[in-house]
Amino acid sequence: MRSDYCGDIRKQAIDQTITLCGWVDRRRDHGGVIFIDLRDRSGVVQVVFDPDGGEFFELADKVRSEYVLKVTGRVRARDAATVNSNMPTGEIEIFGTGLEILNESETPAFQLDEHTKVGEDVRLHYRYLDLRRPEMQSNLQLRAAISSKVRRSLEAQGFLDLETPILTRATPEGARDYLVPSRTHEGKFFALPQSPQLFKQLLMVSGLDRYYQIARCFRDEDLRADRQPEFTQIDIEASFVEEDDIMAVGETMARDLFKEVLDVDLGEFPRMPYAEAMSRFGSDKPDLRIPLELVDVGDLMSSVEFKVFSGPANDPEGRVAAMKLPGGNELLTRKQIDDYTRFVGIYGAKGLAYIKCNDITDLEEGLQSPIVKFLPADVRGAIIERVGAQNGDLVFFGADNASVVNESLGALRCKLGADLKLYTAEWAPLWVVDFPMFEKADGGGLTALHHPFTAPSVDAAQLKDKPLESLSRAYDMVLNGTELGGGSIRIHDQEMQQAVFEVLGISHEEAREKFGFLLDALKFGAPPHGGIAFGLDRLVMLMTGASSIRDVIAFPKTQSAQCLMTDAPGNVDSKQLRELHLRTRVSSEAANDKKEN
Ligand code: AMO
Ligand code: AMP
Repeated sequence: MRSDYCGDIRKQAIDQTITLCGWVDRRRDHGGVIFIDLRDRSGVVQVVFDPDGGEFFELADKVRSEYVLKVTGRVRARDAATVNSNMPTGEIEIFGTGLEILNESETPAFQLDEHTKVGEDVRLHYRYLDLRRPEMQSNLQLRAAISSKVRRSLEAQGFLDLETPILTRATPEGARDYLVPSRTHEGKFFALPQSPQLFKQLLMVSGLDRYYQIARCFRDEDLRADRQPEFTQIDIEASFVEEDDIMAVGETMARDLFKEVLDVDLGEFPRMPYAEAMSRFGSDKPDLRIPLELVDVGDLMSSVEFKVFSGPANDPEGRVAAMKLPGGNELLTRKQIDDYTRFVGIYGAKGLAYIKCNDITDLEEGLQSPIVKFLPADVRGAIIERVGAQNGDLVFFGADNASVVNESLGALRCKLGADLKLYTAEWAPLWVVDFPMFEKADGGGLTALHHPFTAPSVDAAQLKDKPLESLSRAYDMVLNGTELGGGSIRIHDQEMQQAVFEVLGISHEEAREKFGFLLDALKFGAPPHGGIAFGLDRLVMLMTGASSIRDVIAFPKTQSAQCLMTDAPGNVDSKQLRELHLRTRVSSEAANDKKEN
């Protein structure tokens, strides 16, 4: 139908006659001349119809926003005065000599360039219109380019693209499962995979050696800006490998991708033990662009009379940490400090003590703070020295159990970094390594920090003896404070797998019932193996600079896991429920029936 894409026309094409197809971005009437900005996925070009165009001029007068047109015309240079240097096609325009309206459009629910005036709900309801916006077009095109380059990078490294089932059994990645009732097996359910974890391990047992898949994963969990119930992983597994091998595969892939797509050199990724990340940044996914650090001061506070500090200082599970904001006295007003105090409250902090360092040589009068009165001069001096404070600096404090302090000061660190634009680099990747195998679960007992198939760095006896002190052979790739990917060397030995289940309190029977197939497979010559999975949506989000993964997924779900366009999840009729041997407990069946009738 067409000879060219709208956004591709340049002055080299002047005097050529071309045919374009696209949507009316804007139509303007300028004293008897009609200008149409015609848009397709490549961009926008200006088309001009003047009254000499006869019937086409009249037709051009009828078109409205989002009409679909086929335009024929001659490329001509714009007058110097009308050149638009903001547009790639701004040096030329098309003088229309032919026009066909391929389809009309009702007035769209929102003007594409005014999308910010409507809520995201409206955009998601009319997603097909929202996706016409240049920003979304470019996000999705970049996403396609990234997938393509990932495939090429992994295939060049010898990985095979293999598919794994979507209708399967529960896989333990720590979220709730999406379940699918079976019609043919009454009362039984498939689970949608939270990841291809077990299947990719089984492919290694089968000798496929190097697997990858751009795989859809399903997790019924609380959603945030960087989480979707249905998301995509770049999933990787390889045999006869150790940590360094898998980390090299992932790092090569990421480095190539950033170089080719954004012309960014990510350099070598530093490695940081989990314990160090928590201690210095209060997070296992530290944003290393921000030059603020947490410093332990518990030892200085153990005998102060201020219970808020001495309590956690003397509690083995507690932490008292300081964080210095250089020049903070000038940077923050009292009101802003109050706002940040409320902000850390979201993470459970009961307050946000601070010291303004006006004159550090005068420990009596030179420090301004709601807490210095509770601290003896030698403690004040020791704090100043520990954090390396200078005049003008502001020092924040968190005191509570370690997880509250880490979460609240860790979040404050990121917020200050963003609010005050403290970033020292555009991109700061790293590997976090040496994770603990287990952590305490909310309801008592232990859970696996990664997943229960991760190999420990210790033997089975040590693991059972000191589970909370045992480290794992897991690694996470972190970029700018986002966990991009995580993986590990796996257990390939049946006894070690049993030991991990034992520590997790999973009985032999339960393990057989849930993972019998894996335990069996480990008996038949499972090779040493390991892998990693990257969140493709998060990767694209970071590379496009989008603020939510919803902006890089064509048809995402809302924060409450709904699709506003198709209205999923939706009702099903009672016949379907009967076939599936299901009856809903709420009166939704009645509601269903009512809706159908
Ligand atoms: P994990 O659970 O860490 O590991 O997931 C790997 C990566 O997937 C992305 N991700 C998500 N992205 C969007 N929405 C979500 N709800 C979501 N959940 C996870 C993250 C994360 O780093 N089977 C293991 C991998 C392995 O061990 O090989 C796994 O799934 O970027
Ligand atoms: P209060 O004695 O509760 O008025 O607190 C004195 C100062 O300590 C205030 O600035 C509070 O914000 C701060 N504060 C209170 N509890 C904590 C805590 N758990 N961690 C850090 N600062 C706190």
